[in-house]
Amino acid sequence: MTKLPSIGKPVSRLEGRLKVTGSAKYAGEYEAADLLYGYVVNSTITKGKIAVIDTTDAKALEGVIEVFTHENRPSTAWFDFQYADMDAPPGTVFKPLKDNEIKYNGQPIALVVAETFEMARYAAIKIKVAYIEEEFETDLESNINQARDPKKGLASMLKPPPPKPKGNFEEAYQNSFVRSSGEFKHGTEHHNPMEMFATTVLYEGKNKLKIYDKTQGTINSQMYVANVFGLKMKNVQVIAPSVGGAFGSGLRPQYQLFMAVMASLHLKRNVRVTLDRAQMYTFGHRPPTLQSVKFGADENGKVNAIFHKAIGETSQFEDYVEVVVNWANMLYPAENTLLEHKLVPLDVYSPLDMRAPGGSTGMHAIEITMDDLAYRLNIDPVELRLINYSETDKSSDKKYSSKELKKCYLQAAEKFGWNKRNPEPGSMKRGNKLVGYGMATGIWDANRLLARAQAIMTSDGKVEIKSAVTDIGTGTLTIMTQIASDELGLPIDEITFSYADSAMPFAPIQGGSFTVATVGPAVKAACKALNKKLFKKAKNIQDSVLSAARFEDVIFNEGFIFLKNNPELKISVAEILEANDGKEIKTTNTSMPNPLVYGKKARAVHSAVFVEVEVDQELGIIEVKRAVTAVAAGKIINPKTAESQILGGMIWGISKTLHEERILDNRFGKYMNANLAEYHIPVHADIHELDVIFVEEEDYFVNDLGVKGIGEIGIVGMPPAIANAIFHATGKRIYDLPIHFDKLL
Ligand code: MOS
Repeated sequence: MTKLPSIGKPVSRLEGRLKVTGSAKYAGEYEAADLLYGYVVNSTITKGKIAVIDTTDAKALEGVIEVFTHENRPSTAWFDFQYADMDAPPGTVFKPLKDNEIKYNGQPIALVVAETFEMARYAAIKIKVAYIEEEFETDLESNINQARDPKKGLASMLKPPPPKPKGNFEEAYQNSFVRSSGEFKHGTEHHNPMEMFATTVLYEGKNKLKIYDKTQGTINSQMYVANVFGLKMKNVQVIAPSVGGAFGSGLRPQYQLFMAVMASLHLKRNVRVTLDRAQMYTFGHRPPTLQSVKFGADENGKVNAIFHKAIGETSQFEDYVEVVVNWANMLYPAENTLLEHKLVPLDVYSPLDMRAPGGSTGMHAIEITMDDLAYRLNIDPVELRLINYSETDKSSDKKYSSKELKKCYLQAAEKFGWNKRNPEPGSMKRGNKLVGYGMATGIWDANRLLARAQAIMTSDGKVEIKSAVTDIGTGTLTIMTQIASDELGLPIDEITFSYADSAMPFAPIQGGSFTVATVGPAVKAACKALNKKLFKKAKNIQDSVLSAARFEDVIFNEGFIFLKNNPELKISVAEILEANDGKEIKTTNTSMPNPLVYGKKARAVHSAVFVEVEVDQELGIIEVKRAVTAVAAGKIINPKTAESQILGGMIWGISKTLHEERILDNRFGKYMNANLAEYHIPVHADIHELDVIFVEEEDYFVNDLGVKGIGEIGIVGMPPAIANAIFHATGKRIYDLPIHFDKLL
């Protein structure tokens, strides 16, 4: 019998070799006959109107085919009606080239199409633009008087608004034994995936397109193109097997998709549009956010009053919201809460989900406040979390479907050596370095949506599974193959998981840490349905040894159906296929949470993070020397890919805390460091010892695989844990992100 289960094994990424040898193809790399190349021209002003756009010189260059601007752009369906995408916030979606209005700096205003990329890019600088400039506002802090409630809309389904006030915060806070309050500033971040956004459109005849797009959702891009250009869904195929990182930036179709499709349809040619690194800063970012937090606790450390207010940035055309202030009461069961989230519309592009959107912002403020409370109470920070531990999400009064956070605290503390910590700030030293230990909690959603999958037993006895889902570098291909392997009783090399093609069964955008919990059960369901079909056919074979058996009585293994209590009695898949005239056998199935029970429990993943920093006393340089993260996220399908997800999140947490900073010059309304030389991210020398622990947890409420999600939880607790460690090392409470050494001098 084959070595099963596959689930739980550290299987290496099945596409790993393709990727590390450079043979995996990305959206901007597909070959096409007589391909044309597009280069986008971006606005150099922040707000106003294009008075004149002169493309004469550009068009006169040899090899330039066309220059599209708002003046000559083809008429497309969406200019006449509102259409958005699966991740669009409430508001009016931005439509490139719609008219002469400039709404933000870097807005795409023209597309040059030429026979080579170089010629298109050269021609772009020959375009002369005269603008009528208008006053603009891009600074969050000086515009907080404009803060207002976000508009409600479809996107709020996965992003619930803050719960209503409870009890009497002000009174409880004033009567608290200890109080902690802070004003937090969180800067802007850009996603910076390694792969730049690109789309290659193959024109396949009248109104029929095959599109290679960089996206987190093939069907999302397909729907967008079909609706925007008035095409039939079946005539638009979007394919995205390799995605070189996205982190949320691919949750919405980006403007290169619109541009490439527009040009392809108009010119009836194959067209590719690739953005360059600087253009990667012209759509979507994690928004700057200001937060006020006030917690009050009694003498035993019980938090009884929680105030958390966030003011985030949005654009003038959409209300981007994220969940910033809901988390504290999900963790700490205070009876008196006042939670608010406001937006300030500014002359910037709409912010966009970035790994743990809102959660990584809100938990930064919450967990620093908890650390401060621990000091004021003279209670160990871990102890304070345990004193406030709850099996119930107090904000909804629902019990958690599973919550092994306590084990996260204890196992991570043990591994880290938390008991060696002298709580006195500035008391631990190593040479001229101050040493600090800090910890924090992480929390993130455990969601599940609807998905479909197809399972096909091919005539050679192998199985192909199909789903439109992408694999944005998370290991989806590998994990889905493992899930199918166990259900089918086949080794993973007998299974092909075909994916990232909009022509395949429905899957939502890959994000929100819900892919395995959403697509996994669909794959499992399709495999089970395939087994049932095979079994039924096995029973119907003449003189079948399984004729009297029930489905529960058999097991599937290595291409045979065995009777469980008498494995001598078996029928091979080969026999079944033969009886089926050699024809393939297939099934497509839908899987979704049961709406009658799904909302009855609170669902979340949790983590505990412990960090050691060294701070150079003279220079203020901060280094994270060690970090341990323990995660409780349901059953872990593949510990290797799962660990990589958490490590990636932890490294990003270090990056977000100590490195990344978008600098916006409010005089120009422009990001000044739109490149990887000046937008700092960590290099190998910045990253030291990182440990990941997966605490045992299974959650069969969320789905029948017992899985939750791990894509985002790795980043959430890192910033506060690092900031708390810096406090422990130096005695300085830093409330802003990022923390650069100048803040310690
Ligand atoms: Mo994630 S920010 O939902 O890709």
